[in-house]
Amino acid sequence: MHAITIPSAGGPEVLTWAEVPDPQPGAGEVLIRTVASAVNRADLLQRQGHYNPPPGASPYPGLEVSGVDTATGAAVCALLGGGGYAELVAVPAEHTLPIPAGLTVEEAAALPEVACTVWSNIGADLAGKTLLVHGGGSGIGTFAIQFAVALGATVITTARRAKHEALRELGAHHTIDYTEQDFVAEVHKIGKADVILDIVGARYLARNIDALATNGRLAIIGMQGGAKAELDLRALLAKRGSISATALRARGHDEKAAIVRGVRDDVWPLVESGAIRPVIDRRIPMRDAAEAHRVVEVSDHVGKVLLTID
Ligand SMILES: NC(=O)c1ccc[n+]([C@@H]2O[C@H](COP(=O)([O-])OP(=O)(O)OC[C@H]3O[C@@H](n4cnc5c(N)ncnc54)[C@H](OP(=O)(O)O)[C@@H]3O)[C@@H](O)[C@H]2O)c1
Repeated sequence: MHAITIPSAGGPEVLTWAEVPDPQPGAGEVLIRTVASAVNRADLLQRQGHYNPPPGASPYPGLEVSGVDTATGAAVCALLGGGGYAELVAVPAEHTLPIPAGLTVEEAAALPEVACTVWSNIGADLAGKTLLVHGGGSGIGTFAIQFAVALGATVITTARRAKHEALRELGAHHTIDYTEQDFVAEVHKIGKADVILDIVGARYLARNIDALATNGRLAIIGMQGGAKAELDLRALLAKRGSISATALRARGHDEKAAIVRGVRDDVWPLVESGAIRPVIDRRIPMRDAAEAHRVVEVSDHVGKVLLTID
């Protein structure tokens, strides 16, 4: 088969479409012939040499895939520890999902990573709550907005102004341009956030606590603004607040299987009803993954960039 390889860490130009051995599915695994994969920000870090695959995972990038199970002919999509940028992918059957009714196989590649990440971090108990989503224009953000709105939450999101119209179309009730506005002050004008889904990390830690409601919860999933910060615990205590921080890729087999089951139960019906749709910024042939990484690196996209195989 062919896969996108990373012969040495570096810029997008290092990504190389090369012939490599076919993966051999182990016990409990299925072999998927890829129709599409999608770019995640983590893939850029892996390419730069800052985010190695977990033990046992494929060395090729790609955290999600859609395609056809070579044994049964069934169309599926899957959450991966790596290896999605390839013509064939071996993955535990328990980490696969059916293609939701109403979506093409290709479109379904936009969902596994964002659905599993968002569901496992903010849960589905959001009715009547206020959710602050940082980076609403990201793959994660565009999914989180739709998911929370579908569940009956009020959604506030931060993004550069050029993306606001698209995010309002997805259902966001309030949009904040974090480059010009103080998001804490803006959130306080609206109310307070019961849940915050954060991708910035250190730079926003204290301000996120400031924006949090009493009994609120901050779920940190990204460190685009650094990893080390100081926090005045009195602010957290006073609010009886909690902070969680997780990375999906490093979770074990069983935890991922449980998350995939949760997504099937809680998210797939919302996709099949049309309440959530995959937000696809553009499609780029997988062999041109370097071009896809350049697009994601400058962050002009809204939603997901798909990598397709003819
Ligand atoms: N922990 C996990 O398990 C897990 C899983 C998946 C993803 N993630 C993380 O989630 C984040 C999103 O991933 P993705 O693949 O969806 O990324 P993506 O599509 O590449 O989007 C990145 C986004 O970051 C936004 N951004 C940068 N600085 C910001 C700031 N100060 N305030 C608000 N937004 C800001 C950009 O928005 P603008 O263009 O508006 O600036 C852009 O939309 C990444 O940090 C990724 O590492 C974590």
